[in-house]
Amino acid sequence: MTRETRVQASRRTILKGVAATAVALLPAPFAVGQTARIKLGLMLPYTGTYAALGKNIDEAVRLAVGEQGGKLGGREVEYVVLDDESEPAKGAENANKLVTRDKVDFLIGTVHSGVAMAMVKVATDNDTMLLIPNAGAGAATGAACAPNIFRTSFSNWQPGFAMGKVAAGRGRKRAVAVSWDYAAGHESVDGFKEAFTAGGGKLEKELFLPFPNVEFQPILTEIAALKPELVYVFFAGGGAVKFVKDYAAAGLKASVPLVGAGFLTDGTLEAQGEAAQGLETTLHYADGLDFAKDKAFRAAFRKATGRDADVYAVQGYDTGQLLVAGLAAVKGDVKARTDLVAAMERAEIDSPRGKFTLSKAHNPVQDMYLRKVQGLENKYVSVAVKALADPARGCKMA
Ligand code: PHB
Repeated sequence: MTRETRVQASRRTILKGVAATAVALLPAPFAVGQTARIKLGLMLPYTGTYAALGKNIDEAVRLAVGEQGGKLGGREVEYVVLDDESEPAKGAENANKLVTRDKVDFLIGTVHSGVAMAMVKVATDNDTMLLIPNAGAGAATGAACAPNIFRTSFSNWQPGFAMGKVAAGRGRKRAVAVSWDYAAGHESVDGFKEAFTAGGGKLEKELFLPFPNVEFQPILTEIAALKPELVYVFFAGGGAVKFVKDYAAAGLKASVPLVGAGFLTDGTLEAQGEAAQGLETTLHYADGLDFAKDKAFRAAFRKATGRDADVYAVQGYDTGQLLVAGLAAVKGDVKARTDLVAAMERAEIDSPRGKFTLSKAHNPVQDMYLRKVQGLENKYVSVAVKALADPARGCKMA
């Protein structure tokens, strides 16, 4: 039974129980709108190359709400879960199920930018609150920005831009970029290219393969022939594991430095092993940050799940924290939309990544860290760019 059908089954059980009982005994919370449970619709990948990412986000959202006694603004919380399979073609239909059928108060998702943009459209059409706990699609806090759309993660541009700056600052001149051929890959490469070019470098070639393909051999052969000074990539999840291993196995690691947006090595190090050692990436999270909040979060996440936290867990947790802040301000009244949005806009999130605020376009303004793989850690090296804001191109609120 999927998690979604489990939720439905339990609802049926409740209804049967209610039917067998006198109507007068209907539990009061369900009769009074304001005290009914707040419904969170978690639309995430629970299968496929991004499955581990979705799982960590899911469990970290629940951790943050659990730390509030399972309540938001004084109201109990109910979760409705849906596996989006990182499948953009099913994105609108899946988001509509949560909004129209399940009537969720908040749509929360997702990992894949293509699916997230389908969610943005559904949220816009229905004026539903949407919180994006990962997908970096520029348009979500750019051309398609809206008061009801918030992101607690990053824009694809942010880590890419940071790495472009680092690489150019080191005097590198000739780079090649590799990624999947969809919004996240292109935008990440564009961010890198913008800063690398401004710093005097040249991105000589961009190589893309369809998502979620992992047939990297032709690309690795081409890199060997081009002999660039470095290779910048955006890959994540299962694809990142395979790319890092294939890159090392092709004998390229020693001759052409491989760098990337930090997703390349986040949540993947156990599977990548030796092949990942020494790799440098940029991201809004790192191991070895000296924040009390980070230490407490890591211990709590490990206790709750038995796993170590990664960037996806942090983003899920901060999605929960943003909900906590917004709903506390309106005492759980999700209909007080103007006040809810205003409270979320002014929230300062005490994140394990370091404190951050949201830009006018509702994207985190945050430090981008340079990290280096050492054992099973993406060790903090330095702040690559301080308080980096996405340019929010095309956003009318910005
Ligand atoms: C995205 O599709 O925006 C995406 C997916 C996985 C990541 C980061 C970004 O790790």
